[in-house]
Amino acid sequence: MKPAYIKQTRHLLLYLCLLACSACQQQVEEVPIQWQQPAHFPPPAYDFSRNPVTTAGFKLGKRLFYDTRLSRDNSISCGSCHIPTSAFTHHGHDLSHGIDDQLTLRNAPPVMNLAWHKEFGWDGGVFQLDLFAISPIEAHNEMDEKLSNVLEKLRADASYRQMFKAAFGSEEITTARFLMALAQFQLMAVSANSRYDRYLQGRDTLSLLEQEGLRIFQQKCADCHAGVLFTDLSYRNNGLAPRRVRIEGADSVDTGRYRITLQPSDLYKFKVPSLRNLRYTAPYMHDGRFRTLNEVLEHYNSGVQPSPTLDPRLQQSGRVGIPLNETEKEALLAFLETLNDESFVRDPRLSEF
Ligand code: HEC
Ligand code: HEC
Repeated sequence: MKPAYIKQTRHLLLYLCLLACSACQQQVEEVPIQWQQPAHFPPPAYDFSRNPVTTAGFKLGKRLFYDTRLSRDNSISCGSCHIPTSAFTHHGHDLSHGIDDQLTLRNAPPVMNLAWHKEFGWDGGVFQLDLFAISPIEAHNEMDEKLSNVLEKLRADASYRQMFKAAFGSEEITTARFLMALAQFQLMAVSANSRYDRYLQGRDTLSLLEQEGLRIFQQKCADCHAGVLFTDLSYRNNGLAPRRVRIEGADSVDTGRYRITLQPSDLYKFKVPSLRNLRYTAPYMHDGRFRTLNEVLEHYNSGVQPSPTLDPRLQQSGRVGIPLNETEKEALLAFLETLNDESFVRDPRLSEF
């Protein structure tokens, strides 16, 4: 027999736990959703006046983002390839896998800070965040579904009709509303709270090694990986050797931006990616060819391939690439670590469950 007071204390503890849990759950649910401009970021490119983020619109967008009904056989959601704990990338895959386990052409980039982007995809082939969703839904190797079918599936579900009403005023489920809600969810994926962000705001410090890394970064990398977004949003060729990829039995080479513009000067150019949250987004580059940041740095040091469209920044003073010795690499890696934002990948508002 245990003394009664132990039992009582146990009950009390259990009660307190339950109370705390329900309190924090309520908090997650009750805080209204608002898009906030981080003070140290530039103004966003997205036109929020056309599609303001609301709590009901965000909730609907979140449900859609994680709903497998967006795919032909109800097996794949946006969240299958854009996993929150991997900073919304497809962890462990160099090329993303879609429906029937088919390979896609590219490595899924993070859904992160897209409010600041004007063009989407590695080659910038889509001009509006809202419109982007159509391509994975209809791509035969991603979700292989017709948008009109998706809308039919949603219309058959009374709870969706309710959510569309809450978000847009009536139960009507239209393409525009569907895309706007999905965009609202994606716009809320803002990463602006890494240690480096707090350092910029004077709320944290960097170690000497990290500061040294920052200095080298500004000298050697920040022309392209610029500003707080760590991308100047341009398309550039950083000297990766073109690789044959096999898509549905056919050999092809991913020519990047050239696929959109058909300008030979755009051959092998890809959108400069952000360098935030690299701890969660491996493997790296448009085809996920590098598994580690060491491999990436060694690419810049010794692997850069000369070609007519190689970025001029990568062929200076008679040599290609960016010379980096071991000490510089160590400092750079330490600095890149400060760009990881745990609060972003663990944001309960964004995660599926
Ligand atoms: C099968 C895996 C897969 C699925 C499912 C998928 N994506 Fe993607 N996503 C990718 C890949 C791969 C890319 C890169 C495409 C490219 O550059 O051609 C990408 C790119 C993006 C981008 C562009 C990001 C940038 O930095 O420009 C957005 C936005 C996006 N996806 C949103 C979505 C949404 C919304 C859905 C659901 C409707 C979705 N994705 C479903 C793999 C996927
Ligand atoms: C000339 C512009 C340029 C410079 C300078 C540059 N990069 Fe890049 N970087 C790019 C481009 C473009 C890509 C994407 C290439 C691709 O996938 O085809 C990239 C990709 C990366 C990636 C992979 C990110 C991901 O999500 O896949 C990392 C990491 C990276 N660069 C780090 C650095 C570091 C560190 C430096 C400095 C030593 C540097 N870069 C200098 C243009 C540049």
